[in-house]
Amino acid sequence: MAQQQKNTVQKPRGTRDFVPREMEKRRWLEGVIRGTMERFGFREAATPAFEHTELFTMRSGPGIINDMYAFKDKGGRDISLRPELTAPIIRLYVEELVSAPKPLKLFYFGNCFRYENPQKGRYREFWQFGCEILGAKKVSGEVELLTLAHEALRASGLKKFVMRIGHVGVLRRLLEDNGIAKEKQSPLMPLIDKKNYDGLKQALEEMKADAGTIVEVLSSSGGREVLKKVPNSGLDEVLDGLEDCGVMDYIIEPSIARGLDYYTGMVFEVDVPDLGAEKQVCGGGSYSLAELFGAENIESTGFAIGFDRVLVALEAQNADFPTRALDYYIIPMGPGQRREALKVLTAIRNAGRSADIDLSDRNFSKALKYASGLNARETVLVGEEELKKGVLTVKDMATGKQREARLDELIRK
Ligand code: HAM
Repeated sequence: MAQQQKNTVQKPRGTRDFVPREMEKRRWLEGVIRGTMERFGFREAATPAFEHTELFTMRSGPGIINDMYAFKDKGGRDISLRPELTAPIIRLYVEELVSAPKPLKLFYFGNCFRYENPQKGRYREFWQFGCEILGAKKVSGEVELLTLAHEALRASGLKKFVMRIGHVGVLRRLLEDNGIAKEKQSPLMPLIDKKNYDGLKQALEEMKADAGTIVEVLSSSGGREVLKKVPNSGLDEVLDGLEDCGVMDYIIEPSIARGLDYYTGMVFEVDVPDLGAEKQVCGGGSYSLAELFGAENIESTGFAIGFDRVLVALEAQNADFPTRALDYYIIPMGPGQRREALKVLTAIRNAGRSADIDLSDRNFSKALKYASGLNARETVLVGEEELKKGVLTVKDMATGKQREARLDELIRK
């Protein structure tokens, strides 16, 4: 067996196959989130799975290549599989939509690729469901964004998620005011993001900065009162709007630094604490990229939901996923009824109902068992006697009750 496995071709590390039952869950969740985005007036956009590597290195520097699937194509171009969709969507905006009416409210659902160390909830191919709001007034856009993130996760049935809100502009100012010039801040960000305050203290002391004040502010978190420690963030107004939209369960956390370096203002993350190491199911904030790609600066704010992690969380919380059912499973009672059964099948399918038929000439009891595995609501038995009477025998798979019905009644139902 082991030998056999060795010789078979397997999927690449960090990727997954999805069997039909998983795809049903994924399509269901996709539908819920897409429905929420549309309810909020967002419209879908899509971009290619690969881009010029430059699109991602322009802001982040060549270091990011270590985390990407970057390669040269046959024409010698530097190409990367997209690690995220914000830079591609802003590129699309600059190429196609600069003169479209503002604000633009775009959403997307697509696979992303990161050269990560795979573990549960962390994959090399994963899916993001995200959105970007371009050209709204700052506060209004942020309120809409945060409300949408909260509602998309709530509508998916996720329980116990925590939305944490911060502000990287204020964070950077705090560092600057306490002796760390802008160009020296970047190496500190990962320490702050990971809440490694011992490491941060040590680094700050080596830079002769006031570690006490910085660590005191960064390690605070809680309700609105925390905003007193981070003056002029503009977050007060955002929180007013958020509360008007019914979102009260947020936490203010000045230490949110985010992994990507295009953020300039409000930033937020959503965790499901049950998930352990890979607990972050959503992240985003306000950023600046359009200018870098050659357009005029535009207010931009967005987020991406880690689609796979939401599914992992829903499964851990024993969520009820709706199952797909088949309307009818047709069983000809003998070879003589096969052609008549095909006509019944075709009439039902043409009427827009889902129907399947035995393709392997199984005996009756095996055909019933197969139908129940397909989650058929009703089986339609096409038998000689019934055909003479112009009816079909219909068996309700949940109750086991049988009745006779004419084909046109089935179709009309
Ligand atoms: P991000 O935080 O890098 O942000 O990714 C968003 C979400 O994608 C994460 O919160 C996480 O749930 C999920 N995720 C990230 N990496 C993996 C992985 N290897 N496996 C599974 N899930 C993963 C962004 O990508 C930004 N573009 C979000 C944004 C949109 N900011 C503004 N607009």
